[in-house]
Amino acid sequence: MTNKLYFENKNIKDITQTIEAERETIGFYDLPLETIDDYAAYAQTCEATDIVIVGIGGSALGASAIYKFIHSARPLEKTLHVLDTTDPIVLARRLAKFRLEDALFVIISKSGNTIETVAVLKYLTTLLPLNPKNYLIITDSGSPLEAFARVHGLRTFTIPTNVGGRFSVLSAVGLVPLALVGVNIKALLEGANSVRSSFFQRDDYCTLLLKKATYYAQHANTYNINCLFSYSESFREFNAWYVQLWGESLGKKQRASELHVGLTPVGLIGPTDQHSFLQLIVEGKRDKSVTVIKVKAFENAMHVPAVTLEHLESMDLINGLAFSDLINMQADSIIESLDLLGDIPLDVIEIERIDEYSMGILIYYYELLTAMVATMLGINAYDQPGVEMGKKILKEKLS
Ligand code: PA5
Repeated sequence: MTNKLYFENKNIKDITQTIEAERETIGFYDLPLETIDDYAAYAQTCEATDIVIVGIGGSALGASAIYKFIHSARPLEKTLHVLDTTDPIVLARRLAKFRLEDALFVIISKSGNTIETVAVLKYLTTLLPLNPKNYLIITDSGSPLEAFARVHGLRTFTIPTNVGGRFSVLSAVGLVPLALVGVNIKALLEGANSVRSSFFQRDDYCTLLLKKATYYAQHANTYNINCLFSYSESFREFNAWYVQLWGESLGKKQRASELHVGLTPVGLIGPTDQHSFLQLIVEGKRDKSVTVIKVKAFENAMHVPAVTLEHLESMDLINGLAFSDLINMQADSIIESLDLLGDIPLDVIEIERIDEYSMGILIYYYELLTAMVATMLGINAYDQPGVEMGKKILKEKLS
C-alpha cells in the first residue's frame, strides 16, 4: 500500500513513546492475543452453509466490512449474514434468505447484555432450539452471555478484556466468523502485522502516521470533518466500519475537561458520490479533509465496448477503455482538482488489490491512526459514555 500526503506538516509531534506505553494495557495493538489455530480447527468442523452474526456496532461491523470486501472480488465458501438491527422488516427479510437448520448463529457481544443482540437471540430460540451445531457464542470471559452458553453447552470463544468493541475485529469477534466463511485470516493478519512492525520499529508507517495524526489533531478545529472517499463499491461496509471507529473513538470530552471535541467521519464511494457530496467538498465550507482510497489492480477485464451509438459519437473517447481504468481515472481527476484548489487537506491511499493482505493493512492503519489522534487530542479513544447513556436509558424505560 502507498499513502501520499498532499499537505505540508512542519510541526510533527512524536508520540511514539506514549503509544508504546499504551500498548502495555490496550489490547488491540497486539491482536490476536491467542493462536488462530483454534479458530481454523473449529471452522473445519462446522457443517453450516450460512454463517449469521447476531451482534451490533463493534461486534458486527468489522467482520461485515472484510467479508463484503473480499466477497466482491471472489466467491467465498460460505455466506455471511448479519442480524444487527431490531427493525422487524429487515430481520424477517434477512432470516428468509437461508434455511435455519443450515445456519450457524454466531452470537457476539462483549458485554453480553446488549438489548438488540439479546432480543434477536431470544427470537431465534423460538425458531431453532439452542444446540452447539447451530449456535456459537463470542463474548468476554465472565459475561452473562458466557454463563448462558455454559448452561446450554454452547461453544464459546472469548474476547480479551482489554480490547474494546470497535477495536476488536482482529480478535475472535472478527476472525472466527471470517474463518468460518473461508476468508484467509492468516493473510489478513500478515497485512496488519506489516503496519504494526513498521510502526513499532519506527519505520515508514511511523513517519507517515505521525505526520497525518499531527495534522488532524492540530487542525481539528478547522478541518473537523474527515471524508474517506473510497473508489470501489467493495469499500461500502469498510467505510461504515471507519465511521464507527473514528466517530465513537474521537467524539468525546477532553480528559479532565468540560471541552467537547470530535472529528466527524464521512464515508463516500466513488464515482457515485462524485455526483453528489463532491460539490460540498469543492465549493463548500473549508472544514473537510479528504482521503481517497484507490485500488491499483482490480483484476477484472471488463471493457467499454468499441461501439458507436447514434447521437453519442462524441462519447467514443471511452471506447475500449477498461472499467477498472475508468474508475481510477475518475479518482485521479478529483485528486487533481482537490490538489489544484490547494486549501483542502488531501491524501491518497492506493492498495495493490482487493485481498486479505491489503485489508489487514487498512484495518491496522486506521486503528493506529485513531489511537494516535485521540492521544494528541487528549481524549480516551476506548470508552463510549455517549453510547452507554442511550443503552442505560433504554433499559430504564424497559423496566
Ligand atoms: O465499539 C463499541 O464499544 C460499541 O459499538 C459496541 O461494540 C456495541 O455497543 C455492542 O456492544 P456489545 O459487544 O457489548 O454487545
